[in-house]
Amino acid sequence: MTSFWSWYITLLTLGSLVALLWLIFATRKSEQSKGITDQTMGHSFDGIEEYDNPLPRWWFLLFVGTIVFGAVYLALYPGLGNWKGILPGYENGWTSVGQWEREMQRADQQYGPIFAKYAAMPLEEVAQDEQALKMGSRMFATYCSICHGSDAKGSMGFPNLADSDWRWGGDAETIKASILHGRTGVMPAWGAVIGEDGVKNVAAYVRQELAGLKLPEGTQVDLEAGKQAFATTCVACHGPEGKGMAMLGAPDLTHPAGWIYGTSLAQLQQTIRHGRTGVMPAQESYLGNDKVHLLAAYVYSLSKQAQVASK
Ligand code: HEC
Ligand code: HEC
Repeated sequence: MTSFWSWYITLLTLGSLVALLWLIFATRKSEQSKGITDQTMGHSFDGIEEYDNPLPRWWFLLFVGTIVFGAVYLALYPGLGNWKGILPGYENGWTSVGQWEREMQRADQQYGPIFAKYAAMPLEEVAQDEQALKMGSRMFATYCSICHGSDAKGSMGFPNLADSDWRWGGDAETIKASILHGRTGVMPAWGAVIGEDGVKNVAAYVRQELAGLKLPEGTQVDLEAGKQAFATTCVACHGPEGKGMAMLGAPDLTHPAGWIYGTSLAQLQQTIRHGRTGVMPAQESYLGNDKVHLLAAYVYSLSKQAQVASK
C-alpha cells in the first residue's frame, strides 16, 4: 500500500472513532443535565410519543466499550493502513493464506512426530494399526474423496480403491508409489487408425469374448475381424489375453468390474475411438512422504478387507 492510502485509511478510521466518541459525550452532557423528565420530543407517530431522556447508563457504557475495543484491536492487529500491529506474527500483514499456513505449521508441529513414527514402520504393519487407519481414513475424506468417493469405491472415470482390481498394482509399495508420484494412464485414440468399422468390431470383441458380457440383440459386427484387430493393435499394452499390464496402467479387459469408463457397447466404442487419459495427481510435494505413507496403508487395508470378504 502506498503511504498516501495508508494515511488515508488510518486518518479516516481514527477520525471516525474520535468523532463517535465526541458525539456520544456531547449529546449525553446536555441530556444528562436535565435529569429524567416527562418532557417529550414533541413529535407523535400514530399517537406514539418519545420521551426526551438520557440514555440508560449501561447502554451508554456499552457504546463506549465498543469504541475502546476497536481502538485496542487496531493497536494489536494490522488494520490501520501499513501498521503491522503490536502482536508478533503479522510482519507481512494479515492474509487468509498466512493464517492458514500458520495453522498448518502448528498442526505439523503437533502431529508431525505421530506421522513420522508411522512412516518408519512397514506399510503392511501400519495397515494393522487402528489409530493409523483412523487418521488415514480422515485424510482420505479430506484429500481423496472428491475423486474416489468417500467410500473409496470410485465413480465414472475414477477407480475403485476398495476392491482387488488394480490398474497399476495392488501391493502396498505400488499403491504408495501411485499416490506419491501420481499416474497417467494413456489409452490412445484408435478411430483414425482402424476406422469406424474397426472400432465397432473390436469393441464387440472386447465386450463379448474378453469380458464375457452379452452383446445387445441384433448387433451387426465381425467378431473375427475384431479379434484380428485386437491381436495387432491392442496386445502391446493389454497383453495377449487382454489381462492388462500394470507397468502401463493398462487395465484387465477380461474383468469389467474394474473398468472405469463404462461397460456398454457405446462407452467401449467411445473409449477406443477417442482414447482416454486418466490422471491421478501426484501428492508428494503437496502432502509429503509421511502423510502419503499413512494414506497408502489405509488404501491397502481397504483392498485387503475386500479380499477377505470375497473369500
Ligand atoms: C499404448 C498402450 C495401449 C494400447 C495400444 C491400447 N490400450 Fe486400451 N488402455 C490403455 C491404458 C493405459 C488404459 C487406461 C486409460 C486410463 O486409465 O485412463 C486403457 C484403457 C482401455 C479401456 C477402458 C477400460 C476402462 O477402465 O474402462 C478399454 C476398453 C481399452 N483400453 C481397450 C483397448 C482396445 C480395444 C485397444 C486396441 C484397439 C487398446 N485398448 C489399445 C493402453 C492401451
Ligand atoms: C483429481 C482426482 C483425483 C484425486 C484428488 C485423487 N485421485 Fe487417485 N486417481 C485418480 C484417477 C483418475 C486415477 C486413475 C489413473 C489412471 O487412469 O490410471 C487414480 C488412481 C489412483 C490409484 C491407483 C489405482 C490403481 O488401480 O492402480 C491410487 C492408489 C489412488 N488413485 C489413490 C489416491 C489417494 C490415496 C488419493 C488422495 C490423496 C487420491 N488418489 C486422490 C484421480 C484422483
